[in-house]
Amino acid sequence: MNYFLFLFSQLSLFSSVLFAQPDFTPNYDEDKVPTYTLPDPLVFENDEKVESQSGWQERRTEILQLFASQVYGKTPNQSLDLRTKILSTNKQALDGKATRKEVRVFFSKRDARPYMDILLFVPNSANRPAPAFLGLNFYGNQTIHPDPGITLSDQWMRANEDFGIVDHRATEASRGVRVSRWPAETIIDRGYALVTIYCGDIDPDKNDFLDGVHPLFYESGQQEPSDEEWGTIGAWAWGLSRALDHLQTEETIDSDQVAVIGHSRLGKASLWAGAQDERFAMVISNNSGCGGAALSRRAYGETVGRINHNFPHWFCNNFEQYNKNEFSLSVDQHMLLSLVAPRPLYVASAKEDQWADPKGEFLSAVYATPAYQFLGKEGLPTTQMPPVDEPVIGTIGYHIRSGGHDINSYDWEQYLNFADKHFGGKRP
Ligand code: GCU
Repeated sequence: MNYFLFLFSQLSLFSSVLFAQPDFTPNYDEDKVPTYTLPDPLVFENDEKVESQSGWQERRTEILQLFASQVYGKTPNQSLDLRTKILSTNKQALDGKATRKEVRVFFSKRDARPYMDILLFVPNSANRPAPAFLGLNFYGNQTIHPDPGITLSDQWMRANEDFGIVDHRATEASRGVRVSRWPAETIIDRGYALVTIYCGDIDPDKNDFLDGVHPLFYESGQQEPSDEEWGTIGAWAWGLSRALDHLQTEETIDSDQVAVIGHSRLGKASLWAGAQDERFAMVISNNSGCGGAALSRRAYGETVGRINHNFPHWFCNNFEQYNKNEFSLSVDQHMLLSLVAPRPLYVASAKEDQWADPKGEFLSAVYATPAYQFLGKEGLPTTQMPPVDEPVIGTIGYHIRSGGHDINSYDWEQYLNFADKHFGGKRP
Protein backbone atom coordinates (compact mmCIF):
# COMPACT_ATOMS: atom_id res chain seq x y z
CA MET A 1 0.00 0.00 0.00
CA ASN A 2 1.10 3.48 -0.79
CA TYR A 3 2.69 4.89 2.37
CA PHE A 4 0.45 7.99 2.45
CA LEU A 5 -2.66 5.95 1.93
CA PHE A 6 -1.60 3.67 4.76
CA LEU A 7 -0.97 6.63 7.05
CA PHE A 8 -4.32 8.14 6.12
CA SER A 9 -6.23 4.93 6.79
CA GLN A 10 -4.54 4.55 10.20
CA LEU A 11 -5.28 8.16 11.07
CA SER A 12 -8.93 7.90 10.13
CA LEU A 13 -9.28 4.67 12.09
CA PHE A 14 -7.68 6.36 15.09
CA SER A 15 -9.92 9.43 14.87
CA SER A 16 -13.09 7.39 14.39
CA VAL A 17 -12.29 5.55 17.63
CA LEU A 18 -11.35 8.76 19.40
CA PHE A 19 -14.16 10.98 18.20
CA ALA A 20 -16.89 8.39 17.65
CA GLN A 21 -20.33 9.82 18.33
CA PRO A 22 -22.40 7.26 20.16
CA ASP A 23 -25.39 6.20 18.11
CA PHE A 24 -28.47 7.50 19.89
CA THR A 25 -30.77 7.55 16.87
CA PRO A 26 -34.26 7.80 18.39
CA ASN A 27 -36.78 5.04 17.83
CA TYR A 28 -40.31 6.12 16.91
CA ASP A 29 -41.54 2.70 15.87
CA GLU A 30 -43.85 1.05 18.42
CA ASP A 31 -42.92 -2.38 17.01
CA LYS A 32 -39.28 -1.77 17.94
CA VAL A 33 -39.99 -0.94 21.58
CA PRO A 34 -38.24 -3.68 23.55
CA THR A 35 -40.30 -6.14 25.58
CA TYR A 36 -39.87 -5.11 29.16
CA THR A 37 -40.93 -6.00 32.68
CA LEU A 38 -41.14 -3.17 35.14
CA PRO A 39 -40.06 -3.28 38.77
CA ASP A 40 -43.11 -3.33 41.05
CA PRO A 41 -43.53 -0.27 43.29
CA LEU A 42 -45.18 -2.55 45.86
CA VAL A 43 -42.36 -5.12 46.05
CA PHE A 44 -39.16 -4.39 47.98
CA GLU A 45 -35.70 -4.87 46.49
CA ASN A 46 -35.46 -8.08 48.56
CA ASP A 47 -38.64 -9.37 46.83
CA GLU A 48 -40.87 -8.98 49.90
CA LYS A 49 -44.29 -7.54 49.24
CA VAL A 50 -45.57 -4.35 50.77
CA GLU A 51 -48.36 -5.49 53.09
CA SER A 52 -49.17 -2.50 55.29
CA GLN A 53 -49.19 1.29 55.40
CA SER A 54 -45.95 1.30 57.36
CA GLY A 55 -44.53 -1.16 54.81
CA TRP A 56 -45.37 1.36 52.08
CA GLN A 57 -43.53 4.08 54.02
CA GLU A 58 -40.44 1.85 54.10
CA ARG A 59 -40.75 0.99 50.42
CA ARG A 60 -41.27 4.67 49.67
CA THR A 61 -37.98 5.46 51.41
CA GLU A 62 -36.26 2.69 49.47
CA ILE A 63 -37.56 3.99 46.12
CA LEU A 64 -36.59 7.57 47.02
CA GLN A 65 -33.06 6.44 47.85
CA LEU A 66 -32.78 4.57 44.55
CA PHE A 67 -33.86 7.63 42.56
CA ALA A 68 -31.47 9.74 44.61
CA SER A 69 -28.40 7.55 44.19
CA GLN A 70 -29.01 6.30 40.64
CA VAL A 71 -30.97 8.99 38.79
CA TYR A 72 -31.19 12.57 40.10
CA GLY A 73 -28.43 12.44 42.73
CA LYS A 74 -28.80 12.91 46.46
CA THR A 75 -30.20 16.17 47.71
CA PRO A 76 -28.15 17.54 50.64
CA ASN A 77 -30.05 17.40 53.89
CA GLN A 78 -28.27 20.25 55.66
CA SER A 79 -30.61 23.18 56.03
CA LEU A 80 -29.41 26.65 55.21
CA ASP A 81 -30.41 29.87 56.93
CA LEU A 82 -32.49 31.56 54.28
CA ARG A 83 -32.96 35.30 54.42
CA THR A 84 -35.60 37.14 52.45
CA LYS A 85 -35.98 40.69 51.18
CA ILE A 86 -39.11 42.09 49.57
CA LEU A 87 -38.16 43.60 46.20
CA SER A 88 -41.54 45.01 45.21
CA THR A 89 -45.25 44.95 46.02
CA ASN A 90 -48.06 46.26 43.86
CA LYS A 91 -51.57 45.82 45.15
CA GLN A 92 -53.09 46.92 41.85
CA ALA A 93 -51.43 44.45 39.49
CA LEU A 94 -53.30 42.80 36.59
CA ASP A 95 -55.80 45.70 36.40
CA GLY A 96 -56.39 45.59 40.12
CA LYS A 97 -57.22 41.88 40.22
CA ALA A 98 -54.07 40.79 41.94
CA THR A 99 -51.26 41.75 44.26
CA ARG A 100 -47.86 41.29 42.72
CA LYS A 101 -45.00 40.68 45.07
CA GLU A 102 -41.34 39.84 44.48
CA VAL A 103 -39.31 38.26 47.24
CA ARG A 104 -35.58 37.66 47.03
CA VAL A 105 -34.42 34.59 48.95
CA PHE A 106 -30.68 34.63 49.75
CA PHE A 107 -29.06 31.23 50.17
CA SER A 108 -26.03 32.51 52.09
CA LYS A 109 -25.12 35.21 54.59
CA ARG A 110 -23.92 37.45 51.79
CA ASP A 111 -26.23 39.76 49.85
CA ALA A 112 -25.01 38.12 46.66
CA ARG A 113 -25.78 35.18 44.41
CA PRO A 114 -26.90 32.53 44.70
CA TYR A 115 -30.35 33.89 45.48
CA MET A 116 -33.73 33.34 43.89
CA ASP A 117 -36.40 35.91 43.13
CA ILE A 118 -39.88 34.56 43.78
CA LEU A 119 -42.62 36.31 41.80
CA LEU A 120 -46.13 36.03 43.23
CA PHE A 121 -49.49 37.10 41.84
CA VAL A 122 -52.17 36.65 44.51
CA PRO A 123 -55.90 37.22 43.85
CA ASN A 124 -57.21 40.37 45.57
CA SER A 125 -60.77 39.11 45.76
CA ALA A 126 -59.92 36.12 47.93
CA ASN A 127 -61.39 36.21 51.41
CA ARG A 128 -59.10 33.46 52.62
CA PRO A 129 -55.58 32.30 51.84
CA ALA A 130 -55.43 31.26 48.19
CA PRO A 131 -54.31 27.87 46.85
CA ALA A 132 -51.35 28.30 44.53
CA PHE A 133 -49.51 26.95 41.50
CA LEU A 134 -45.75 27.06 41.90
CA GLY A 135 -43.44 26.45 38.95
CA LEU A 136 -40.04 27.35 37.54
CA ASN A 137 -39.65 29.30 34.29
CA PHE A 138 -37.00 29.07 31.54
CA TYR A 139 -36.05 32.70 30.78
CA GLY A 140 -36.73 34.88 33.81
CA ASN A 141 -39.81 36.09 35.68
CA GLN A 142 -40.16 39.07 33.34
CA THR A 143 -41.05 36.71 30.48
CA ILE A 144 -44.24 35.41 32.08
CA HIS A 145 -46.15 38.71 31.92
CA PRO A 146 -45.58 42.13 30.29
CA ASP A 147 -46.10 43.91 33.67
CA PRO A 148 -43.18 46.43 33.57
CA GLY A 149 -42.84 46.26 37.36
CA ILE A 150 -41.42 42.73 37.25
CA THR A 151 -37.67 42.78 37.89
CA LEU A 152 -35.70 42.02 34.73
CA SER A 153 -33.46 39.05 35.46
CA ASP A 154 -29.73 39.76 35.25
CA GLN A 155 -28.75 36.10 35.65
CA TRP A 156 -27.09 34.02 32.91
CA MET A 157 -29.58 32.27 30.63
CA ARG A 158 -29.51 30.20 27.47
CA ALA A 159 -29.17 32.39 24.40
CA ASN A 160 -32.40 33.03 22.51
CA GLU A 161 -32.57 36.17 20.43
CA ASP A 162 -36.21 35.45 19.48
CA PHE A 163 -37.05 35.90 23.13
CA GLY A 164 -34.86 38.95 23.67
CA ILE A 165 -32.08 37.01 25.39
CA VAL A 166 -28.86 38.48 24.00
CA ASP A 167 -25.37 37.32 25.01
CA HIS A 168 -26.96 35.13 27.66
CA ARG A 169 -28.70 38.08 29.34
CA ALA A 170 -32.35 39.11 29.31
CA THR A 171 -33.14 42.44 27.67
CA GLU A 172 -36.29 44.57 27.92
CA ALA A 173 -37.45 42.82 24.74
CA SER A 174 -37.93 39.63 26.76
CA ARG A 175 -40.83 41.04 28.78
CA GLY A 176 -43.95 38.95 28.33
CA VAL A 177 -42.48 36.67 25.64
CA ARG A 178 -43.74 33.58 27.49
CA VAL A 179 -47.16 34.91 28.34
CA SER A 180 -48.85 32.05 26.45
CA ARG A 181 -47.33 29.61 28.94
CA TRP A 182 -48.48 31.54 32.02
CA PRO A 183 -52.13 32.66 31.79
CA ALA A 184 -51.88 34.79 34.94
CA GLU A 185 -55.28 36.52 34.56
CA THR A 186 -57.14 33.21 34.11
CA ILE A 187 -55.39 31.67 37.11
CA ILE A 188 -56.23 34.70 39.26
CA ASP A 189 -59.87 34.77 38.02
CA ARG A 190 -60.19 31.15 39.07
CA GLY A 191 -59.07 32.07 42.60
CA TYR A 192 -55.51 30.71 42.53
CA ALA A 193 -52.21 32.41 43.18
CA LEU A 194 -49.39 32.03 40.66
CA VAL A 195 -45.84 31.74 41.94
CA THR A 196 -42.77 31.40 39.73
CA ILE A 197 -38.98 31.55 39.83
CA TYR A 198 -36.35 31.60 37.07
CA CYS A 199 -34.72 28.13 37.20
CA GLY A 200 -31.28 29.64 36.56
CA ASP A 201 -31.46 31.52 39.87
CA ILE A 202 -31.16 28.12 41.53
CA ASP A 203 -28.77 26.63 39.00
CA PRO A 204 -28.02 27.97 35.51
CA ASP A 205 -28.82 25.32 32.90
CA LYS A 206 -25.27 24.51 31.80
CA ASN A 207 -22.67 21.89 32.57
CA ASP A 208 -20.93 23.93 35.23
CA PHE A 209 -21.10 23.13 38.91
CA LEU A 210 -19.25 26.17 40.17
CA ASP A 211 -22.34 28.35 39.83
CA GLY A 212 -25.81 27.97 41.34
CA VAL A 213 -26.43 26.37 44.71
CA HIS A 214 -24.19 23.28 44.42
CA PRO A 215 -21.03 24.97 45.79
CA LEU A 216 -22.88 25.95 48.98
CA PHE A 217 -22.75 22.29 49.97
CA TYR A 218 -19.24 21.32 48.81
CA GLU A 219 -16.59 19.86 51.09
CA SER A 220 -13.46 21.98 51.03
CA GLY A 221 -11.73 21.68 47.65
CA GLN A 222 -14.73 20.03 45.98
CA GLN A 223 -15.39 21.30 42.43
CA GLU A 224 -18.36 19.24 41.35
CA PRO A 225 -20.90 16.80 42.79
CA SER A 226 -19.64 13.25 43.37
CA ASP A 227 -21.14 10.41 41.34
CA GLU A 228 -24.21 10.03 43.51
CA GLU A 229 -24.75 13.67 44.41
CA TRP A 230 -27.38 15.89 42.83
CA GLY A 231 -27.27 17.40 39.38
CA THR A 232 -29.12 20.42 38.06
CA ILE A 233 -32.61 18.86 38.17
CA GLY A 234 -31.96 17.94 41.80
CA ALA A 235 -31.02 21.55 42.54
CA TRP A 236 -34.14 22.89 40.82
CA ALA A 237 -36.30 20.51 42.87
CA TRP A 238 -34.55 21.65 46.04
CA GLY A 239 -35.24 25.29 45.08
CA LEU A 240 -38.94 24.50 44.69
CA SER A 241 -38.98 23.19 48.24
CA ARG A 242 -37.22 26.34 49.47
CA ALA A 243 -39.90 28.37 47.70
CA LEU A 244 -42.52 26.33 49.57
CA ASP A 245 -40.70 27.13 52.84
CA HIS A 246 -41.25 30.76 51.97
CA LEU A 247 -44.88 30.28 50.94
CA GLN A 248 -45.52 28.87 54.41
CA THR A 249 -44.78 32.36 55.72
CA GLU A 250 -47.07 34.19 53.24
CA GLU A 251 -50.40 34.84 54.95
CA THR A 252 -52.26 35.27 51.67
CA ILE A 253 -51.29 31.78 50.44
CA ASP A 254 -52.70 28.47 51.63
CA SER A 255 -49.45 26.52 51.79
CA ASP A 256 -51.39 23.28 52.35
CA GLN A 257 -52.76 23.68 48.83
CA VAL A 258 -49.74 24.28 46.67
CA ALA A 259 -49.52 22.48 43.32
CA VAL A 260 -45.98 22.15 41.99
CA ILE A 261 -45.98 22.37 38.20
CA GLY A 262 -43.40 22.28 35.43
CA HIS A 263 -43.03 21.93 31.69
CA SER A 264 -40.47 19.65 30.06
CA ARG A 265 -37.09 19.72 31.88
CA LEU A 266 -38.84 21.77 34.54
CA GLY A 267 -41.57 19.09 34.66
CA LYS A 268 -38.85 16.56 35.51
CA ALA A 269 -37.92 18.93 38.36
CA SER A 270 -41.51 19.34 39.56
CA LEU A 271 -41.95 15.55 39.70
CA TRP A 272 -38.73 15.08 41.65
CA ALA A 273 -39.69 17.94 44.00
CA GLY A 274 -43.18 16.51 44.54
CA ALA A 275 -41.80 13.00 45.07
CA GLN A 276 -39.38 14.11 47.79
CA ASP A 277 -41.38 16.82 49.50
CA GLU A 278 -44.77 15.63 50.69
CA ARG A 279 -45.83 19.16 51.61
CA PHE A 280 -46.68 19.67 47.92
CA ALA A 281 -50.39 18.91 47.86
CA MET A 282 -50.51 18.30 44.09
CA VAL A 283 -47.95 17.56 41.39
CA ILE A 284 -48.23 18.43 37.70
CA SER A 285 -45.97 17.16 34.93
CA ASN A 286 -46.39 18.83 31.54
CA ASN A 287 -44.59 17.04 28.67
CA SER A 288 -41.78 16.01 31.03
CA GLY A 289 -40.67 13.03 28.90
CA CYS A 290 -37.43 11.14 29.48
CA GLY A 291 -36.24 11.39 33.09
CA GLY A 292 -39.71 12.77 33.90
CA ALA A 293 -42.94 10.84 33.50
CA ALA A 294 -41.94 8.63 30.51
CA LEU A 295 -40.89 5.02 31.10
CA SER A 296 -37.15 4.70 30.45
CA ARG A 297 -37.37 1.01 29.46
CA ARG A 298 -39.45 1.84 26.39
CA ALA A 299 -36.49 3.74 24.94
CA TYR A 300 -38.90 5.56 22.62
CA GLY A 301 -37.96 9.06 21.46
CA GLU A 302 -35.41 10.50 23.87
CA THR A 303 -33.48 7.81 25.79
CA VAL A 304 -31.38 7.71 28.94
CA GLY A 305 -28.22 7.54 26.81
CA ARG A 306 -29.22 10.49 24.68
CA ILE A 307 -30.28 12.70 27.57
CA ASN A 308 -27.07 12.02 29.51
CA HIS A 309 -25.06 12.75 26.37
CA ASN A 310 -26.84 16.03 25.57
CA PHE A 311 -27.40 17.25 29.13
CA PRO A 312 -24.61 15.72 31.25
CA HIS A 313 -25.39 18.06 34.16
CA TRP A 314 -29.07 17.24 34.67
CA PHE A 315 -28.77 13.90 36.49
CA CYS A 316 -26.12 12.34 38.74
CA ASN A 317 -23.08 10.69 37.15
CA ASN A 318 -24.34 7.28 38.27
CA PHE A 319 -27.24 7.60 35.83
CA GLU A 320 -24.76 7.16 32.95
CA GLN A 321 -24.42 3.47 33.86
CA TYR A 322 -27.87 3.04 32.37
CA ASN A 323 -27.12 4.48 28.93
CA LYS A 324 -28.49 1.83 26.55
CA ASN A 325 -28.84 -0.29 29.68
CA GLU A 326 -32.21 0.78 31.09
CA PHE A 327 -32.99 -2.80 32.11
CA SER A 328 -30.39 -2.67 34.87
CA LEU A 329 -32.18 0.16 36.64
CA SER A 330 -33.93 -0.90 39.86
CA VAL A 331 -36.51 1.79 39.21
CA ASP A 332 -38.47 3.17 36.30
CA GLN A 333 -40.36 6.41 36.10
CA HIS A 334 -43.76 4.96 37.14
CA MET A 335 -42.12 4.55 40.54
CA LEU A 336 -41.35 8.25 40.65
CA LEU A 337 -45.04 8.87 40.04
CA SER A 338 -45.97 6.35 42.74
CA LEU A 339 -43.99 8.46 45.24
CA VAL A 340 -46.59 11.19 44.79
CA ALA A 341 -49.35 8.84 46.07
CA PRO A 342 -51.83 9.40 47.65
CA ARG A 343 -51.68 13.05 46.53
CA PRO A 344 -53.28 14.19 43.27
CA LEU A 345 -50.99 13.96 40.28
CA TYR A 346 -51.54 15.16 36.70
CA VAL A 347 -49.49 13.92 33.75
CA ALA A 348 -49.96 15.62 30.38
CA SER A 349 -48.55 14.80 26.96
CA ALA A 350 -48.90 16.33 23.50
CA LYS A 351 -49.64 14.40 20.31
CA GLU A 352 -46.78 15.81 18.26
CA ASP A 353 -44.31 15.62 21.13
CA GLN A 354 -43.12 12.12 20.26
CA TRP A 355 -39.64 12.95 21.62
CA ALA A 356 -41.23 12.87 25.11
CA ASP A 357 -43.00 9.53 24.39
CA PRO A 358 -46.68 10.28 25.18
CA LYS A 359 -47.50 6.58 25.42
CA GLY A 360 -44.65 6.05 27.89
CA GLU A 361 -45.93 8.97 29.98
CA PHE A 362 -49.43 7.52 29.96
CA LEU A 363 -48.28 3.98 30.86
CA SER A 364 -46.23 5.37 33.71
CA ALA A 365 -49.43 6.81 35.20
CA VAL A 366 -51.16 3.45 34.66
CA TYR A 367 -48.38 1.54 36.42
CA ALA A 368 -48.26 4.03 39.31
CA THR A 369 -51.94 3.37 39.97
CA PRO A 370 -51.47 0.21 42.13
CA ALA A 371 -49.59 2.35 44.70
CA TYR A 372 -52.54 4.76 44.78
CA GLN A 373 -54.99 1.89 45.11
CA PHE A 374 -52.95 0.37 47.90
CA LEU A 375 -53.42 3.68 49.74
CA GLY A 376 -57.17 3.66 49.11
CA LYS A 377 -57.15 6.08 46.16
CA GLU A 378 -58.35 5.63 42.65
CA GLY A 379 -55.21 6.52 40.73
CA LEU A 380 -55.83 6.74 36.98
CA PRO A 381 -59.32 5.42 36.12
CA THR A 382 -58.33 3.78 32.83
CA THR A 383 -55.69 1.54 31.29
CA GLN A 384 -56.56 2.62 27.73
CA MET A 385 -54.84 5.62 26.20
CA PRO A 386 -57.61 8.23 25.85
CA PRO A 387 -58.29 10.02 22.55
CA VAL A 388 -56.57 13.33 21.93
CA ASP A 389 -58.04 16.26 23.92
CA GLU A 390 -60.15 14.03 26.17
CA PRO A 391 -58.77 14.20 29.71
CA VAL A 392 -59.23 11.26 32.10
CA ILE A 393 -59.50 12.38 35.69
CA GLY A 394 -59.06 10.41 38.91
CA THR A 395 -56.56 10.95 41.70
CA ILE A 396 -54.23 10.81 38.74
CA GLY A 397 -55.27 12.92 35.75
CA TYR A 398 -53.97 12.47 32.21
CA HIS A 399 -54.49 14.08 28.84
CA ILE A 400 -52.85 14.03 25.46
CA ARG A 401 -53.36 17.41 23.82
CA SER A 402 -53.34 18.03 20.10
CA GLY A 403 -50.30 20.01 18.98
CA GLY A 404 -46.66 20.02 19.99
CA HIS A 405 -44.26 20.34 22.88
CA ASP A 406 -45.58 23.27 24.92
CA ILE A 407 -47.75 24.28 27.86
CA ASN A 408 -50.72 26.36 26.80
CA SER A 409 -54.15 27.54 27.87
CA TYR A 410 -55.71 24.14 27.13
CA ASP A 411 -53.27 22.47 29.54
CA TRP A 412 -53.84 25.11 32.21
CA GLU A 413 -57.62 24.78 31.87
CA GLN A 414 -57.30 21.08 32.77
CA TYR A 415 -54.96 21.82 35.70
CA LEU A 416 -57.35 24.44 37.06
CA ASN A 417 -60.27 21.99 36.79
CA PHE A 418 -58.17 19.30 38.45
CA ALA A 419 -57.22 21.67 41.28
CA ASP A 420 -60.88 22.70 41.71
CA LYS A 421 -61.80 19.05 42.03
CA HIS A 422 -59.10 18.12 44.51
CA PHE A 423 -58.72 21.37 46.42
CA GLY A 424 -62.47 21.60 46.95
CA GLY A 425 -63.21 24.25 44.35
CA LYS A 426 -61.73 27.00 46.50
CA ARG A 427 -62.79 30.27 44.98
CA PRO A 428 -62.84 33.80 46.34
C1 GCU B 1 -34.90 18.85 25.19
C2 GCU B 1 -34.62 17.64 26.05
C3 GCU B 1 -35.85 17.21 26.85
C4 GCU B 1 -36.42 18.38 27.59
C5 GCU B 1 -36.67 19.54 26.64
C6 GCU B 1 -37.15 20.83 27.30
O1 GCU B 1 -35.78 18.50 24.17
O2 GCU B 1 -34.16 16.62 25.23
O3 GCU B 1 -35.52 16.18 27.76
O4 GCU B 1 -37.60 18.00 28.27
O5 GCU B 1 -35.46 19.86 25.98
O6 GCU B 1 -36.86 21.06 28.47
O7 GCU B 1 -37.81 21.62 26.60
